[in-house]
Amino acid sequence: MRKPCLSCLLLSSILLACSGLLAQQKIDVHTRNMSLVLTIGPNGKLYQSYLGTRVAVSSTPSDTLVESYAQGGGSYLFEPAIRIVHADGNPSLDLRVASWGTDSTDGNIRVTSIVMKDPVYPVTVVLELKSYVRENVITSGVRISHAEKEPVRVSNFASSMLHFHADSYWLTQWHGDWAREMQMDESRLTSGIKIIDSKLGTRADMYQTPAFLLSLNGKSTEETGEVLAGTLGWSGSFQLLFEVDEKDRLSVLPGMNPYASDYVLDPGKTLKTPEFIFTYSDGGRGRASRNLHDWARSYGVLDGKGPRMTLLNNWESTQFEFNEQKLDTLFSETRKLGADMFLLDDGWFGNKYPRNDDHTSLGDWQEDRAKLPHGIAMLEKDAAEKGVKFGIWVEPEMVSPKSELYGKHPEWVLKLPNRAENYFRNQLVLDLVNPAVQDFVFRTVDDLLTQHTGIAYLKWDCNRMMTNAYSPYLGSRQSNLYIDYVAGLYAVLERLRAKHPSVPMMLCSGGGGRTDYGALKYFTEFWPSDNTDAVERVYIQWGYSYFFPANTIACHITSWGKEPLKFRTDVAMMGRLGYDLDVSKMTEKELGFSQQALKDYRRLSAVIGQGDLYRLLAPYDAQRAALMYVDSDKKKAVLFGYVLHPRYGSVWAPVKLQGLDGARTYRVKEINRYPGTPAVLAEDGRTFTGEYLMKTGIGVLGKKELTSAVVEITAE
Ligand code: GLA
Repeated sequence: MRKPCLSCLLLSSILLACSGLLAQQKIDVHTRNMSLVLTIGPNGKLYQSYLGTRVAVSSTPSDTLVESYAQGGGSYLFEPAIRIVHADGNPSLDLRVASWGTDSTDGNIRVTSIVMKDPVYPVTVVLELKSYVRENVITSGVRISHAEKEPVRVSNFASSMLHFHADSYWLTQWHGDWAREMQMDESRLTSGIKIIDSKLGTRADMYQTPAFLLSLNGKSTEETGEVLAGTLGWSGSFQLLFEVDEKDRLSVLPGMNPYASDYVLDPGKTLKTPEFIFTYSDGGRGRASRNLHDWARSYGVLDGKGPRMTLLNNWESTQFEFNEQKLDTLFSETRKLGADMFLLDDGWFGNKYPRNDDHTSLGDWQEDRAKLPHGIAMLEKDAAEKGVKFGIWVEPEMVSPKSELYGKHPEWVLKLPNRAENYFRNQLVLDLVNPAVQDFVFRTVDDLLTQHTGIAYLKWDCNRMMTNAYSPYLGSRQSNLYIDYVAGLYAVLERLRAKHPSVPMMLCSGGGGRTDYGALKYFTEFWPSDNTDAVERVYIQWGYSYFFPANTIACHITSWGKEPLKFRTDVAMMGRLGYDLDVSKMTEKELGFSQQALKDYRRLSAVIGQGDLYRLLAPYDAQRAALMYVDSDKKKAVLFGYVLHPRYGSVWAPVKLQGLDGARTYRVKEINRYPGTPAVLAEDGRTFTGEYLMKTGIGVLGKKELTSAVVEITAE
């Protein structure tokens, strides 16, 4: 191994001198109710002293037990946050704090940047912690750069490293598959490593979700217990690693997945990790969710405080079979139903290979002249005449082997040399690392929006994961692919948003294969699952509600399940309401009910989308569920109750509400009643004090299977 150079030794002594000055300084990263305190040790290294409920810094320990962003290759014995192999082959990193500071940006966000350097090798690591004071959320990310003569290999690159020392650790995770998203599981963490990860590259969350709840000192409930809720803002392969050491201390390392991803970093370039977004609550899971929702609406999601459009989508009812005439009818039906927008799904493009099923045409984003002889222009015009907005589906990152694009640019496709192409849904992934491909994807969407100003909404799909992943563009640096792909995707989205800042977009990935805040800052909502069976959706939407506010969760009423329309409607109303069914098949009664539901939803969507969520009864505990949203001044609330498949003779206790003002009087009124059926709510139309509603409760659960109720609660 090469000896350290003179200038490095000089730098080393300067750094050590600096470290001496910084030694024992405490770095206080806090929000209104939460503190993360770091200490610079006498050796200049960074340690975590405290994480939990807000405390005075002076009351936190100054000991230097757990390294804050531990480095591999030296004396650290567990999973490191970062590991670098230097240009000369030395596989160690030794970070000392060179400087740090805190900036306040808008009075609510405090950005603490801690600059760490290696005394011997010219590597700089900046740990950036943003605290969102009002929302009680902290985000953590890291920037890694160096000035070595040759590239270095970065093989671990966590976004954050958090330490805990508790009696027990309970991890709640969400996993699944297509149409089975967000299955919730809780398990106790024991000695050793537990990893939740994705190696899928694209459609990365298909099997695992990059989000978790960690309960300390026992299991938490909605209202009690110490909980850390965290989620990674990254739309690619990820890893959430939990390690319990020999002293029963826990380290949590969330970040991009190091699997097959030793990152080759050139001198002068920066590797930026995604943000890990977390909140801590000593008042249970409910509060943790509300913190994240508040953060998301202000900072995490595009136009998080703005209204959302209701819509009629045609995927379930027509699949690929439609033409101008059919769409004309669907515009009229959107209008008749009373939804704001019609969303044209897959199947509108391709001429040499028309998109009549999922085997062809991705990449050929020109209107199919057989189905749409007058193009999108005609559809925009027609929709406008019918008084509805018009939205359209795209899947711009993908290519079908049967497409003109593939014929023209086989070098734009991710695929292994010397191996057969590997298809999933008959398609391949474009090489978004390649700037020419980025331009193509940008232009595809930009042209649509520029040439058709009547497009009021986009659904951006991504129907496959990466397999046989190899970028012709990257040459010998294939291990950069998984990270650079996502960087390429974000670069395209940045450009798009610079030019089209406000058009609402749905993030979709073969159902809920992409549900993360890395992408959501460019999107207004996401598609949680292709499974729209209303019973399944109670669980799926419940799962997402831990991390995402209701106005980001797209919920459509379809014909997937056998549940009554009333039940399906009540389930979809707990998120962003939409329809995807054949309106022409509705009876008069069904149509009238749905028209009224849309009107009621419009009136209440601000409470549902912006209000505080209280999960009252979990569907996991028994065959029923209840939840409610309360607006910020506690004047209006909407309560939902669902009975799934009760055991014979079940008698439900009154449901105790939460989040109301105990001293106020509220009227409770059941809405969304199906014509000709009695109210479920025994107390329908009566008034009660908030205290009564919260201490005694009301009967919002029906007796029969697949019954439900929506209750509007209004302060008098
Ligand atoms: C994916 C989406 C669906 C639909 C189809 C179209 O599966 O999740 O909602 O858009 O693609 O091919």
